[in-house]
Amino acid sequence: MTTVERPVRTFVLDAAGIEKSYRRGLRHRQNILRGADITLRPGEVVGLVGENGSGKSTFMKILVGALRADAGTVVVDGKLGYCPQEPVFYERLTCDEHFELFGRAYRMSPAAERRARRELYAALGFERYASTRADRLSGGTLAKLNLGLALLADPEVLLLDEPYAGFDWDTYVKFWQLVAQRREQGRSVLIISHFVADEERFDRIVQLRDGRAEPR
Ligand SMILES: Nc1ncnc2c1ncn2[C@@H]1O[C@H](COP(=O)(O)OP(=O)(O)O)[C@@H](O)[C@H]1O
Ligand SMILES: [Mg+2]
Repeated sequence: MTTVERPVRTFVLDAAGIEKSYRRGLRHRQNILRGADITLRPGEVVGLVGENGSGKSTFMKILVGALRADAGTVVVDGKLGYCPQEPVFYERLTCDEHFELFGRAYRMSPAAERRARRELYAALGFERYASTRADRLSGGTLAKLNLGLALLADPEVLLLDEPYAGFDWDTYVKFWQLVAQRREQGRSVLIISHFVADEERFDRIVQLRDGRAEPR
């Protein structure tokens, strides 16, 4: 038997020189990103901070491929999970049905999907809403569902846009337990926050300012 040595990964996500402007009226463009760079290494938990409107959500949408950049490159090595700032859901589907749908999209086996779903219900504490339609859920439970869907396929890179804005304290604590567990497994997490209350929970913090991302 031959052993193929896989090179040790130095990063799971690497973005360089990202530029993005939005049209403002007929003639003007607003430059939001002006050469922003970011690298995520395996097992890192990184915070992305910046003032309101500094371009954090725009940057993350480009990192996950939901939005096209005007310039720059993004390389992702591994499976990616994304939790947008505004929860995306299907009004008429229950939580269970969301997990089934996403499990199929991720090409998980039904058994693997159900196992992951059970763990996520337990970890985030919303099992009792399993059969509730999304349009009947509170904002906090919808946020849990969105986080759960991003985590379903156990992604190497997890990108979260203000994930705990609507969480109560108990869920906030559970959230950080989940993040710590992922770090131990060598998974990486990038978390957007408009304020950083618990700086020590991050390995490092990157600040978006004037269209660039700098260590803080
Ligand atoms: N689709 C869009 N079209 C035009 N302007 C946008 C669009 N999305 C965001 N913007 C503007 O770009 C700036 C950065 O937005 P955003 O990335 O959401 O910032 P943040 O997440 O840091 O608050 C803001 O001024 C916002 O109004
Ligand atoms: Mg935002």
